[in-house]
Order: sequence, then C-alpha cells, then structure tokens
Amino acid sequence: MNNNPEPRSISFGQPILGKEEKSAVMEVLDGFMLTHGPQCKKFEESFAKRIGVKHAITTSSCTAALHLSLLALKIKPGDEVIVPAETHVATGHAVEHAGAKPVFIDVNKKTGNIEASAIEDAISPNTKAIMVVHYLGLPCDMDEIQKMAKKHSISIVEDCALALGSSYGDMFPGSIGETGCFSFYPAKHMTTMEGGMLTTNSDEIAELVRKQRAFGYDKGLGERAQPGIYDVIMLGYNFRMSEAQAAIGNCQLERLDDFLEKRKRNTEVLLSGLADIEEIKTFPVKQGKAVSSLYCVNAMLPCNTGGDRTNVVTYLKSVGIGTSVHYPVPVPLTSYYKTKYDYHDKEFPIAKWISDTAISLPVGPHLSIDDMEYIVFHLKNACSNIL
Ligand SMILES: Cc1ncc(COP(=O)(O)O)c(C=O)c1O
Repeated sequence: MNNNPEPRSISFGQPILGKEEKSAVMEVLDGFMLTHGPQCKKFEESFAKRIGVKHAITTSSCTAALHLSLLALKIKPGDEVIVPAETHVATGHAVEHAGAKPVFIDVNKKTGNIEASAIEDAISPNTKAIMVVHYLGLPCDMDEIQKMAKKHSISIVEDCALALGSSYGDMFPGSIGETGCFSFYPAKHMTTMEGGMLTTNSDEIAELVRKQRAFGYDKGLGERAQPGIYDVIMLGYNFRMSEAQAAIGNCQLERLDDFLEKRKRNTEVLLSGLADIEEIKTFPVKQGKAVSSLYCVNAMLPCNTGGDRTNVVTYLKSVGIGTSVHYPVPVPLTSYYKTKYDYHDKEFPIAKWISDTAISLPVGPHLSIDDMEYIVFHLKNACSNIL
C-alpha cells in the first residue's frame, strides 16, 4: 500500500443480501404462509445437517434460544448457572429470565475463553448448567469442559452466537453441549435480519423448545385435527421466526462457505500485518482441536504505556474505518449486575483488560484484501503517532 492511500469507507459489519434473498422474500410475501411454514422447516433441516445435530429449531433471536434452552433444562429459581464475564449481556440475561442466578467467572488471557478449571472452582451444590461462549468464534476446550460437566452432572448450553463456521476436531460447536444457540443478527456470519437457531440432539429438549417457542400450545399448526382448536399445556412465549426471515436464511446458508472463505483470507492479511506491530496483542484463531469462525480480530492495545484507545478509534473513524468492542464492559460490571449482585471493579481482571483495551477490527466478506491492507496501514500509523 502506498504512503497516501485513497480514503475509503469500511463498516464493521455489513450483511451481503442479493437478488436471491430479495426474490425469496417476495415469494413469501406473494403467498399466504407468513409464519411457521415451509421456509422455516427447510431452514431448520439444512441447518441441522450442517451442524451435525438431530434437531435445529428457528427462534426470534439467539437470546430467545438461550432462554428456551435453560427452560428446557428445567433451570429454575434457586439454581445457579455459570457464565463467562466477557460475553454479550444476552448470555447473562437468559439466566436472569429463567429466574436463576448467573455466577460469572473470568476468562483465559490467551484466548478470551472460559476454562474447565475456572468453571470447576465456581461450582456449588446449586450449579445446574454452564453457558459456554465460544469467544469471537474460537471454540472453548470442550473435551475438558465436557469431562468436568459430566463429573458434576451439570448441563452445557453453548452460546454459538459468534461461532457459526467454527469447528472442534470433527465436530461443530452447537452439537457438543445439551443445546447450541446461534444468532443471525446483521453483523453475524450470515443474517436473517433478527433471528436465531437452537440446536440439540435430544428429542425431549426439542419437543419442549418447540412448544415453549409457540405459547405452550399442545399441537403445532399442522398437527391439529380441527383448524384453530388447541390446548395450552405450559407457559410459553412467542419466540418464532417468520417465513420471510427463514427465506433469507435459506439463501444465506447457501452462501455461507463463500462468506467464511473470505473471512479466512481477510483475517490472514490482517493478522500478518498486525504481527509487525509490537504494541498490539491478538488472540489465536486455532488452538488444539479448535478452529475459529473468525468473527472479528480483537487488537488489544497496551494500557500501561499511555495508549489511548479512544484516540486510536477516533483516528480510524476519521479515515473511514469502522470498529467495535467485544465487549465494552464485562457483564458482571454493567450497572444492572453490579448493583444486583454487588460485584466490584477489581473482579474479573482479564475480562476487564479485554473490555478496556480491545478494538474489534472487521474481517467480514464485504471487505477486500485491499481494505484489509488499508486497515493495517492506518493501524500502524495510529500506533506510531498515538501510542
Ligand atoms: C455471545 C453472544 N450471545 C448472544 C448474543 C445475542 O444474539 P441475538 O442478538 O441474536 O439475540 C450476542 C450478540 O451479539 C452475542 O455476541
């Protein structure tokens, strides 16, 4: 890249929706099935096949899938669920919505993921489940976590919001725990605008989730002997996905491998550029059996040499580079959890280090190799002029 690259506009996340998605949505709108119809069914079947699970169930969001997972596992008031401190607030909120207590633990400094030993230290007689978050798409050490969960008879819910496209040996995240929960929010690996998917190998969990996702009806639309006649057998929600969203999902799933390939190429260019910048630390994209889905690259700036993240982000913004932070505050240190559970700022030092120093850089399929070189060029500038 020359010393004065042309300015450009690079967003952190940008969904790629083409004429296939548009005509699939129009076809749904021209029909009469706008919800729980063939598009959702097809999306669920193709997704289950891709992840290697028996059941995939469309939901209105990943948050809804996390919530439904805990309800299906019979998590209730008085129970505790272990949650990583460095995650999206949705992971903690799902536990709160189920009426249980989230018990937050710090993450590993090398990966940003939780580890079996830290989980084990937090287990009490009330612990019923662990929310395993594959941070930025790198799968956690599931062999160790599964061993430990089995030993203590606790369930595993995998938060795969950022992990679609990652792998763990010959398995895919979402097929390892009791349930897996995926997000199709616009900046994710593929989108349905809003939307989520719950995956499981358990027939019992799948049946409960399908009912609780739709008001607690005893029978789905196609199962009713007489149209409009049903009973309600449990307190349920309306957490369904619409047919138009599922139609987009079906098109996006076909393009997923191409999207993932571009993420891989972009991450390689970015990481090889960042390797020259001594001040910046990054997380590995492979670790043992775990291969990341490459949601973004976190560049951790030095916080002890006068580095100022705000100045770097402002500079990057001035040259058209959009960034984000994953995540801006460790969940237990957000006002809601801090006040409710009396956490204090000295707890969760590694999560806090990530939240305070990281800049999340984009690697999505909307970006070219040139865009990645542009990001490297300006980050180098920022590091030599600001840090
Ligand atoms: C780790 C994690 N879990 C859950 C969610 C929530 O996903 P959704 O917006 O689909 O509810 C997010 C959102 O980014 C996330 O990063």
